[in-house]
Amino acid sequence: MAQNSIVVLISGTGTNLQAIIDATRDGRINANIAAVISNRPDAKGLDRAKQAGIDAVVVDSNTSGDRNEYDARLMAAIDRYQPALVVLAGFMRILGDEFIDHYCDRILNIHPALLPDFKGLHTHRRVLEAGKQVHGASVHFVNNELDSGPVVIQAEVPVYKDDTEQLLAARVLEKEHIIYPMAISWFVDGRLKLNDNEVLLDNNVLPKPVLWKENQLILSGQR
Ligand code: GAR
Repeated sequence: MAQNSIVVLISGTGTNLQAIIDATRDGRINANIAAVISNRPDAKGLDRAKQAGIDAVVVDSNTSGDRNEYDARLMAAIDRYQPALVVLAGFMRILGDEFIDHYCDRILNIHPALLPDFKGLHTHRRVLEAGKQVHGASVHFVNNELDSGPVVIQAEVPVYKDDTEQLLAARVLEKEHIIYPMAISWFVDGRLKLNDNEVLLDNNVLPKPVLWKENQLILSGQR
């Protein structure tokens, strides 16, 4: 396994992918993106990968009816690159147990909400409907339950009275582009680990996720 190699899985626009590419280029992430893999042939993020000279691979989920068979093809595509970390960046497919177990402790995901609130889809719309005043994003280790793995870092954004889903999504996305490269860099530098379902940062158990607020990292003891 190449210690400083990651594979990024996408389904769409790939703005998080772009933020990760940029961070590998300017030294904030000390790793090489070995490949970008999309389950959709038309994902715009594939062009971002190609432009950056990264292998852009399609493992099309439309040609497969069976989840296990798809997951096996995806695993084979990933394992060709032997990555230290698998990064889900807007990868809009549920992965089966075998897949999750195979990459146990080395898959991260970003979710556009303050987990454990608002798991699943359409988070921005649901936050507006619920009348919340604070929303945000979470980076978490992936486990066998949807959007439920241990959370590493979160960023909050305010929700304004006249917000639309689009405005709110853009405000959250801006924070995603900051916290995801941070979490990835901690992992590839060996600072971030999952041990017995607990998140360790610099060998300390995180009782709560790290919070990115007002351009500062806040550890749970400091909240
Ligand atoms: C991001 O907002 C990400 O958090 C979300 O999809 C978007 C992808 O944007 N992921 C999920 O909803 C996963 N459940 P991007 O393709 O521009 O990075």
